[in-house]
Amino acid sequence: MAKRPKWLDTAVFYEIYPQSFKDTDGDGIGNIDGITEKLSYIKELGCSAIWINPCFDSPFGDAGYDVADYCKVAPRYGTNDDLVRLFEKAHELGMHVILDLVPGHTSWKHPWFLESMKAEKNEFTDRYIWTDSIWEEPAGYGSLRGISDRDGSCVVNFFTHQPALNYGFYKPDRPWQQPMDSEGALSTREAVKDVMRFWLSKGCDGFRVDMAGSLVKNDEDGKGTIALWQDMREFLDREYPEAAMVSEWGEPDKSLQGGFHMDFLLHFGPSHYNDLFRCEAPFFEGRGDASEFVAKYMENYEKSERKGLICIPSGNHDMDRLARHISEKNRRLAFAFLLSMPGAPYIYYGDEIGMNYVEGLTSVEGGYGRTGSRSPMQWDDSGNAGFSTAPSDKLYIPQDPDENRPTAKKQIEDEDSLYHEVQKLIGIRNSEKALGNLGEIEFICNGEKGKPLAYIRSMGEEKILVVINPTGSECEISVEGDPGEVIYSYGEGIKTAGNICKISPASAAFVRI
Ligand code: NOJ
Repeated sequence: MAKRPKWLDTAVFYEIYPQSFKDTDGDGIGNIDGITEKLSYIKELGCSAIWINPCFDSPFGDAGYDVADYCKVAPRYGTNDDLVRLFEKAHELGMHVILDLVPGHTSWKHPWFLESMKAEKNEFTDRYIWTDSIWEEPAGYGSLRGISDRDGSCVVNFFTHQPALNYGFYKPDRPWQQPMDSEGALSTREAVKDVMRFWLSKGCDGFRVDMAGSLVKNDEDGKGTIALWQDMREFLDREYPEAAMVSEWGEPDKSLQGGFHMDFLLHFGPSHYNDLFRCEAPFFEGRGDASEFVAKYMENYEKSERKGLICIPSGNHDMDRLARHISEKNRRLAFAFLLSMPGAPYIYYGDEIGMNYVEGLTSVEGGYGRTGSRSPMQWDDSGNAGFSTAPSDKLYIPQDPDENRPTAKKQIEDEDSLYHEVQKLIGIRNSEKALGNLGEIEFICNGEKGKPLAYIRSMGEEKILVVINPTGSECEISVEGDPGEVIYSYGEGIKTAGNICKISPASAAFVRI
């Protein structure tokens, strides 16, 4: 297992979608200086690290996940120097910054792709995956066709304007499919190492890696992609051992083998994450069933050496805001869960103040249904909720039109707000090792329909029982050992007698045992 940078062991992350966080130059779109200005807000909440979605030059067909220059901050966000200042300021505050690395594909406007489209062979001919003829489409993959002088169809990764970079095929089965050790595939790897070097040498603390598990093609079991990341790990161990690497992969056994420090729990695929938050009957709305989530979580936990290296986000730029599915009161229960699980928690900007999903928006920059979760942060009661001084119709995405929309200011002023609940929970997590990123977990009640979630977090001798009951009824659980001091309680809380705990409806509690 890769040696982790010390700070990651206690990190609580805050995810920032840079377009929508804070605009300091009045153009209606967030920028790097805006993030720097708000670092103290994030620190005050209790978070110690930030993840910034791609902030690089791009035609923004997928909100920046279509990079046109990996080594240049998009002018709309500022300059490379602004980003370096952000790193410095964060470090002064004892915080860390990870950037979003998008190694799977570029924009079709990237100079590498423009070269790769040329009929004459050049340095970038094999930087992407092309079939040999326009009449052959790559079976099993989407493709981009008919826009180049070069004869061939180019494999794409996500949207059709995101051509896939060539890391080779684990098992090539067509003449145009190059092996992983082909010259083109190896040179792509080196180019990505150069991108990492570029930002790490400027003070960035690591990367969240986009679609990290799908780089090598025809690689059903992920063996090729694991080997690829092991090579990246050797490079990092040699040159930047302090860089944190967090993968968007969703299979921690594979990503950790590949040398990542932590892996995200994904909101799609087999994780059952959204059984808890976003489905017909979410567990945290008191109507659902968490048992399949728990079974899958424990399967991954066992496979990843029982280390808390699975990161559970409150939400992100790709999924509905928590508030779209879970009422304000129940969201506190959701946060009690998110902030008492192993792995570094990730709070999506605005979730801490209960920002809404903005309904009915026209898609912005490839957001489609995701656009409603990407609206500008609501800071205060000034114009545009303090996000920007631009005219409202010039904002990157329209803001929540609700006149009672939450703002950071209102939430900070109200002692009983969600913000303060989240702040309190982070504070408790930060002061109890057992509840932290690396504490172990053992479930004693799996939240099957009508039951609470209950688990014991431990670190050495320290043990904390966490019980979260979103159901409408009191529930009883028995624990080994004597329940002692209650260190957190929400709702009517918990009553203990001997080894029996009774948890009230719509309540949560953390108890020392
Ligand atoms: C995952 C990112 O989170 C998402 O926003 C993006 O559209 C795709 N990867 C493609 O890069």
